[in-house]
Amino acid sequence: MVTILAIESSCDDTSAAVIADGYVLSSLIANQDVHRQYGGVVPELASRSHQSNITPVVTEAVRQAGISAGSIDAVAFTRGPGLLGSLLVGTSFAKGFAIARNIPLIEVNHLQAHVMAHFILEKGKENRTPAFPFLCLLVSGGHTRFIIMKNHYDMEVIGSTIDDAAGEAFDKCGKVIGLPYPAGPVIDRLAAKGNPEAFRFAKPAVKGLDFSFSGLKTSFLYFIRDMLKDDPDFIERNKNDLCASLQRTIIEILAGKIIKAVSQTGINSVGIAGGVSANSGLRNAMTEQALKRKWNLFIPELKYTTDNAAMIGISGYYKYLRHEFSGHEITPLARY
Ligand code: KG4
Ligand code: ZN
Repeated sequence: MVTILAIESSCDDTSAAVIADGYVLSSLIANQDVHRQYGGVVPELASRSHQSNITPVVTEAVRQAGISAGSIDAVAFTRGPGLLGSLLVGTSFAKGFAIARNIPLIEVNHLQAHVMAHFILEKGKENRTPAFPFLCLLVSGGHTRFIIMKNHYDMEVIGSTIDDAAGEAFDKCGKVIGLPYPAGPVIDRLAAKGNPEAFRFAKPAVKGLDFSFSGLKTSFLYFIRDMLKDDPDFIERNKNDLCASLQRTIIEILAGKIIKAVSQTGINSVGIAGGVSANSGLRNAMTEQALKRKWNLFIPELKYTTDNAAMIGISGYYKYLRHEFSGHEITPLARY
């Protein structure tokens, strides 16, 4: 049995997980509420919170896994991309742990890990995993990318955003209407009570399999600004409809490109990953399209869509099988 301790600290969540032969034994996340009042993640506060959270989170992950620290075969950690100060905490902890126990250290790319979340196994579950080649749309707070996975190790990017990420579109537009950070999950919740056809916002025309969300953000901002001139209560009275219409627009952009990507690549093993793949509207739209177009669809469990250490652990497990280890001189990379 191969047992991996995994650590994820790229942004504002301190996470640790234990994975044995691909199965999750434990997966914990300590959220940092401190950023809410600032409307976004404050890097210095994030690293300080990681610093105080990391030892208790790892200790609890090992305890919940029901193993002894001595049975851990390797420690996997997020090397990047992310906030440098946050990454440093996880990287240093992982290094210290590996050196103290004399076990291998495994670096993981956070973006690849989001896609690898599709291969996480859970005891007592059906555990459907994608067939290769696998076409995955990664939609997170910082990235929007089409990735083709040829096998567990080989990923190719075939499209990407030219400006904002899909998650940023949710978060920045949410901020315009006074929603707390991160706005994505709040918009998802309010959208369920609104009319998705109430308002129309600009949809960018971007060639090929690339994306753009900055035009939508500007269109949303100007629309709100104009409406507030005549009606200061416009946002309050239309909040649910605004959320539903914004969400519909983002989903239409994403779904339109996925349909295009499937037809261009001829790959019908299709999935979504990353924080925005938690969106209920996007999940429903994908399920609908998959039925209609006979895709073999893969949507990760909700808890493995947003940042978590289990996805780092499953990535580390596959690297362990190939002995892809890192040296102790390794440093985190904000851009990876
Ligand atoms: O993957 P993730 O947890 O962190 C990054 O690697 O960026 O993604 C975070 C992003 C945020 O922009 C957040 O608003 C968005 O995912 N998000 C959602 C939902 N849950 C999280 N967006 C829309 N609907 C959701 N339910
Ligand atoms: Zn992420």
